Amino acid sequence: MDMKKLAGDKAATYVKDGMVVGLGTGSTAYHMVNAVGEMVKNGLKIQAIPTSKATEAQARELGIPLLTIDQVDHVDLDIDGVDEIDPQFNAIKGGGGALYREKVVATLAKQVIWIMDESKLVDKIGAFHLPVEIAQYGSKQAMAKMEEYGFHPVLRVRDGKTFVTDNGNFIADLHLGAGFDIEDVREKISGIVGVLEHGLFLNMCKRMIVGCASGEVKVIENPAK
Ligand code: A5P
Repeated sequence: MDMKKLAGDKAATYVKDGMVVGLGTGSTAYHMVNAVGEMVKNGLKIQAIPTSKATEAQARELGIPLLTIDQVDHVDLDIDGVDEIDPQFNAIKGGGGALYREKVVATLAKQVIWIMDESKLVDKIGAFHLPVEIAQYGSKQAMAKMEEYGFHPVLRVRDGKTFVTDNGNFIADLHLGAGFDIEDVREKISGIVGVLEHGLFLNMCKRMIVGCASGEVKVIENPAK
């Protein structure tokens, strides 16, 4: 049973005719995009905003009509994956490095759905590293500031090279540990020169859709939304 596919397929059922839809990034969102592509082939009329170059390529291949971020003033529904999420709907995202575009699209969305396998549900976020997108210029100084704050930043490397985001920036992965002070970290990170965005997505979603090993798909509604 592919838990990510269960969640992705279920989330696609929330996509309706006429919507502007944010398409997330990652291995769970991949299934959702495939399901939406299938629906488009069967006549669904939507326009979509991809949250990364990878998702854009996948959506284009599937024939999903795309818009750029500058062509919209709102998004009806955004569906994306998470790396960790707590019972208060506080999530860490950016494991795939797409956090900036993901946050821009989620912030514009009237409704946000996070999709995941059940391993992503945790009591307290922070065991997963917190990704922070930083400018290349001055990255050493930004990293030093994070180190000074005790955030244990590690510059992301992929295939032996420093990872570069779709926006041409670096990613610092912070090793904070579960139960860190979310507000304190958010405030300190946001104040560092060179930080474009961080991977804290706090209480943004209307619902979580969770694929479970048992084959069940849980839909957890956020009472605050
Ligand atoms: C991409 O940058 C991330 O925010 C992903 O949405 C997140 O890492 C979840 O990815 P998976 O669905 O692949 O676990």
